[in-house]
Amino acid sequence: DCLTSRRMVKLPGFIDVHVHLREPGATHKEDFSSGTAAALAGGVTLVCAMPNTNPSIVDKTSLSLVQDLAKAGARCDYALYVGASEDNWSTISELAPQAAGLKMYLNDTFSTLKMTDMTIWEKHLATWPKRAPLVCHAEKQTMGAIILLAHLLDRSIHICHVARKEEILIIRAAKEKGIKVTCEVCPHHLFLSTDDINKIGKGVSEVRPVLCSKEDQEALWDNLEYIDVFATDHAPHTTEEKHSENPPPGFPGLETILPLLLDAVQKGKLTLDDITNKFHRNPKKIFNLPEQPSTYVEVDLDEEWEIPKETEHSKARWTPFAGMKIKGRVHRVVLRGEVAFVDGEVLAAPGYGLNVRTQSLKKLNLHLSMEAMDQYQSMDNLDSLPRFSSTQM
Ligand code: DOR
Ligand code: ZN
Ligand code: ZN
Repeated sequence: DCLTSRRMVKLPGFIDVHVHLREPGATHKEDFSSGTAAALAGGVTLVCAMPNTNPSIVDKTSLSLVQDLAKAGARCDYALYVGASEDNWSTISELAPQAAGLKMYLNDTFSTLKMTDMTIWEKHLATWPKRAPLVCHAEKQTMGAIILLAHLLDRSIHICHVARKEEILIIRAAKEKGIKVTCEVCPHHLFLSTDDINKIGKGVSEVRPVLCSKEDQEALWDNLEYIDVFATDHAPHTTEEKHSENPPPGFPGLETILPLLLDAVQKGKLTLDDITNKFHRNPKKIFNLPEQPSTYVEVDLDEEWEIPKETEHSKARWTPFAGMKIKGRVHRVVLRGEVAFVDGEVLAAPGYGLNVRTQSLKKLNLHLSMEAMDQYQSMDNLDSLPRFSSTQM
């Protein structure tokens, strides 16, 4: 409604370095088309997809299979991780230039790639190129061990989904010593705790890392300055699966992350600059991702709404954040000069998304208008966020 007060702000295209898109092997949960539609609906224009698919992405053959599926299905830009296994450490590094990074699974979760032997961890840490991103699912003491090993080998390491006070405090101490560790935190650990399990349901609330205590949750907020990245760990499973005897761990998160963060801005817990830093600039820097020309997100800071039980775009069709009252909504997403999402509707077609490790974003966008290029230039200076008046929208 153009007559009511709307504060539209223009933000950069967001980068989610941790999503599970389930293709191949579990396309009833998600596929490249549905998962990247959910991304665009959440203001995310670039995703890094995890390798715990079926087959897992652990070698050249499986990577090129998934590259073909992603190329046909993705609506937003993407990069694909490869997974570390007990026996691929001597060959996997050849794929580093084509990969988002190397993922190491060091704790039990929804994956067949778990490695327990620290001598194998060390081989991967030593062999994977130092400048290429290396990310770990490592909780509690395991996290301490892998940070030490990476430090001994003088290489950087990124810790996925930090959830506990003991974890963020160790990361803080390591950073203060100059150790090259970065980390991400997920919305479900920032906005949910064990207090929410009854409401969500015991089985449905299964996720790895688990939902933690209020004290853990508060420790994340108290140590925001040590959190480099916000990422969803978008891990869709169907409602039926989540209500089964043996519910798989994981929450969908792409459609809700930005609204939740915007709501936290309204509540004074974050600034828009925090969102831009941790959900765009830092991911881009840490993962060496390219600028997406003419790409931005328009959000309405004033729109109030309630997260519905059933989300629109992910095949998961449910969300642990249902019922939360939110101020702030994604209005429009422009990806490389094209309107990819507007007012609830995804317009980017499957196949529009580009693999940022193997396809050039610039070359494929010769049609960009001068006006679009100007807007792109102005995105470099986000300190003063351009404002849209309601009549312009
Ligand atoms: O809850 C989770 N689900 N944690 C993970 O580490 C994996 C993910 C999945 O793929 O379902
Ligand atoms: Zn994980
Ligand atoms: Zn994950």
